[in-house]
Amino acid sequence: MSGQQLTPAEIMSLSPVIPVIEIDDANKSIDLAHALITGGINVIEITLRTDAALDAISVLAKEVPEVHVGAGTLLNPSDLSRVRDAGAAFALSPGSSEPLLQRANHMNFPLIPGISTGSEIMQGMDLGYTHFKLFPATSVGGISLLKSFSGPFQDARFCPTGGINESNYLDFLALENVLCVGGSWIVPKSLMQSGNFAEITKATATAINSYKNQ
Ligand code: 3PG
Repeated sequence: MSGQQLTPAEIMSLSPVIPVIEIDDANKSIDLAHALITGGINVIEITLRTDAALDAISVLAKEVPEVHVGAGTLLNPSDLSRVRDAGAAFALSPGSSEPLLQRANHMNFPLIPGISTGSEIMQGMDLGYTHFKLFPATSVGGISLLKSFSGPFQDARFCPTGGINESNYLDFLALENVLCVGGSWIVPKSLMQSGNFAEITKATATAINSYKNQ
């Protein structure tokens, strides 16, 4: 996405759902982004787990400026430079390390760090972070953990990811300290492989409309 850089708070407010994508073919990323936009989602996380990921980020940044492209699965500071150079608008990590959080600060690059404990939230807050990805959300305590975090960490906001699906995402989104959820359920691998983008649009629209109409 070209244009003004968004803060983590703004990124986490773009859409109630951030689709998490493990992409095998960068050529499919444009059709995917259009399918998501038509269904009502303008943000996407491309995980750095495939050879095609950086290419997909760079194609999307150039060709589909309406979509905010994030890079996921950042594990170390050098990943930040790789994804920024590819054109990512922001980054998410599955966990927190001080070097990663420090480097993002020095680069002035929006990072949503992964946390699963109070100590990691405190480490993040010490470094100026208030917006976090709770990962892996359902394994580490899910809704009851997020409710517990709301007492001591009143300014912290979360994007739970990992184990989120169509049957629990609305319950997570109902929490005051949750701004959005992340999940792979919205773009099943089978639909990507078959190139069934119409179904991806349908699943996207269903998720967004169920949230709006509840
Ligand atoms: C991630 O990388 O954020 C997760 O793998 C997504 O988790 P999910 O596949 O359970 O949605």
